[in-house]
Amino acid sequence: MIENIKNFAVIGAGRMGSQIAQLLSRVGKYSVTIVDVSDDIVNGALKSIEADLKRYFVDKGKMTEDEMKEVFSRIRGGTSIAEAAGKADFVIEAVFENLEIKKNVFAELDRSAPPHAILASNTSGLSITEMASVTRRPEKVAGMHFFNPVAVMKLVEVVRGAFTSDETVATICELARKLGKEPVVCRDVSYGFLANRAYGGMMREAIEMVWERVGSPEEIDKALKLGYNLPMGPLELGDMTGSWGLWASSEQDRIRELGPEKGRLHPLVRWMVRAGYTGGPGKKGIYTFWKDVLSKGP
Ligand SMILES: NC(=O)c1ccc[n+]([C@@H]2O[C@H](COP(=O)([O-])OP(=O)(O)OC[C@H]3O[C@@H](n4cnc5c(N)ncnc54)[C@H](O)[C@@H]3O)[C@@H](O)[C@H]2O)c1
Repeated sequence: MIENIKNFAVIGAGRMGSQIAQLLSRVGKYSVTIVDVSDDIVNGALKSIEADLKRYFVDKGKMTEDEMKEVFSRIRGGTSIAEAAGKADFVIEAVFENLEIKKNVFAELDRSAPPHAILASNTSGLSITEMASVTRRPEKVAGMHFFNPVAVMKLVEVVRGAFTSDETVATICELARKLGKEPVVCRDVSYGFLANRAYGGMMREAIEMVWERVGSPEEIDKALKLGYNLPMGPLELGDMTGSWGLWASSEQDRIRELGPEKGRLHPLVRWMVRAGYTGGPGKKGIYTFWKDVLSKGP
């Protein structure tokens, strides 16, 4: 029941965990404890939350200084999962995208969190059923997959493991709406769930077309934007979010879950990543690789 949820723990204070903690406090007015492995990381995350609130809300006139202080005062930092989960009604896990690490975190969460607490993972595609298997409450384990940037993107995928209860799914959908998001429900048998799996297919074809020199990254993105009314092309989005580096690091997971044909890293992406063109904030991606390397011939 959403009315009984007051305290949150967010595990992992990286890019997603910080933004999720901010959303929970700003929109949901919830108390949140954000946990990571060191004080330095936690303090860095708290600083980035404060800076984002100032930059995107106070400076744009969407929030007063006092409101910002109030939002920030509801967020605490810590390095103990047991302490944060011990008083949480709802936990959102956002640690590295690695199943073994996530399973260790879920085992600890299950030991520490009160029996009524829901344990949700922000995983982009890993098995909720496997995470639930290390707990004694698989019916209360589910995916709650936010999209980056969390303050802007409307979608939350609510992911059912094999034993997730209807009540848990309904509570997470209700929470997502309360946070101003639109939930869609899906099962965890699909690596990449709904949005990333479908989008990944389009990105793979776009990469293949660059490799075949059918068109430049700019032309391919332009065709998709104008032909399908997309706000951004898949290749510029990959450059912005760092998809190329992420693809390289998740190749084994993809081969296991999707099979070798869809899972294997494209030679172009492998080449780009080896050359340091991973995409992501401040990093070069496929647009620059085209200019620096591909357009120059063999
Ligand atoms: N970045 C995105 O665009 C995006 C979008 C949606 C979902 N996700 C998912 O969100 C999760 C986090 O992604 P991210 O981009 O924020 O990663 P990130 O690398 O920025 O942050 C992960 C954080 O988890 C911490 N961590 C690792 N092990 C821990 C442990 N045992 N206990 C506590 N903290 C621990 C790390 O120190 C790090 O600060 C992943 O599952 C990812 O797939 C990412």
